[in-house]
Amino acid sequence: MTELSKTGAAVGEPVESAPTDAEGAFLSVRDLRIHFDTDDGLVKSVDGVSFDVRPGQTLGIVGESGSGKSVTSLGIMGLHRTAKAKISGEVWLDGEELIGADPDHVRRLRGQKMAMIFQDPLSAMHPYYTVGAQIIEAYRTHNKVSRKVARARAIEMLDRVGIPEPGKRVDSYSHEFSGGMRQRAMIAMALVNNPELLIADEPTTALDVTVQAQILDLIRDLQKEFGSAVIMITHDLGVVAEMADDILVMYGGRCIERGSAEKVFYEPRHPYTWGLLGSMPRLDRAQTERLIPVKGSPPSLINIPSGCAFNPRCPYADVPKDNLTRTVRPELAEVGSDHWAACHMSQEQREKIWIEEIAPKL
Ligand SMILES: Nc1ncnc2c1ncn2[C@@H]1O[C@H](COP(=O)(O)OP(=O)(O)OP(=O)(O)O)[C@@H](O)[C@H]1O
Ligand code: SF4
Ligand SMILES: [Mg+2]
Repeated sequence: MTELSKTGAAVGEPVESAPTDAEGAFLSVRDLRIHFDTDDGLVKSVDGVSFDVRPGQTLGIVGESGSGKSVTSLGIMGLHRTAKAKISGEVWLDGEELIGADPDHVRRLRGQKMAMIFQDPLSAMHPYYTVGAQIIEAYRTHNKVSRKVARARAIEMLDRVGIPEPGKRVDSYSHEFSGGMRQRAMIAMALVNNPELLIADEPTTALDVTVQAQILDLIRDLQKEFGSAVIMITHDLGVVAEMADDILVMYGGRCIERGSAEKVFYEPRHPYTWGLLGSMPRLDRAQTERLIPVKGSPPSLINIPSGCAFNPRCPYADVPKDNLTRTVRPELAEVGSDHWAACHMSQEQREKIWIEEIAPKL
């Protein structure tokens, strides 16, 4: 069967017009689905995700391990083009639709208009070329400059990500770097062309606090100078609180809450988001005192629970009447200005629980 995008165009055929509700967005993702055919069955890693990111804006994507954050990012970058991946939906980058675009064209946009800091630095750096050679190549592919100029740029970037003796380290191989250094080198490579869209997938996980702050500053500089749109994926809600304008919460391959950072942090309207916020360590509280952890494990993406995918773990699953929670999947619905959540409880029920039960404990 031919995979169809939301507009009805077959995947691989150009879609003609950008979504009308995405005015001013640099990136618009509409109903993105990425499913993988495996021996165990169809893995629905991403199952209908939509969002926009405007120039200069940061979208934070949060959610437990396996919720589909990396698969979403790789999909935007056009990096799932294998026979086993079934992709549909639309990805609009600066007015161009990429899911149906020529793969060579998408490859040219990668590294230039859009770049990604990968969760696994090893997969992004080639073992046979020096770190410098790879950054120089990335720079020269998109800029008509001499090797000498490109080398100076590579050294400058290595310096900016905090690599000591960058003039010397530029000639090292990635395996000669520690994990943290490798991650920094990859960040240098991602930023070398001042991308207009940067997807940072757990960019600071292996780094110590000082370097982490340095990298976040670098990303902010990029945004300030070039108005870049940024997607920041991280388990660290502290980083999200510091960086993100908007937040998208993923659960089981879907978006279950989305809105401005202020709304999602201070008026969250989904029980899963309450759990995430409750498990966030706070400086003024001992680690052992963590509240409302999200009990249980993430859903199987092959057999997603019917109804609300969160129902086996949700303390409020019996609040909605008629067993709705276990039979009907809740759709994202507007719960306030610039704020959407997918839950069968009424707005009043959720507001009451948040104000009376959850917020006082956070
Ligand atoms: N090529 C693939 N084939 C089959 N399943 C895949 C493939 N790539 C990813 N998956 C599955 O898709 C799901 C989502 O994976 P993804 O890497 O996006 O999670 P994530 O949210 O980034 O998690 P983490 O926080 O651990 O990085 C996982 O269950 C993963 O096993
Ligand atoms: S729909 Fe039901 S199970 Fe899902 S989050 Fe809301 S109350 Fe919990
Ligand atoms: Mg990931």
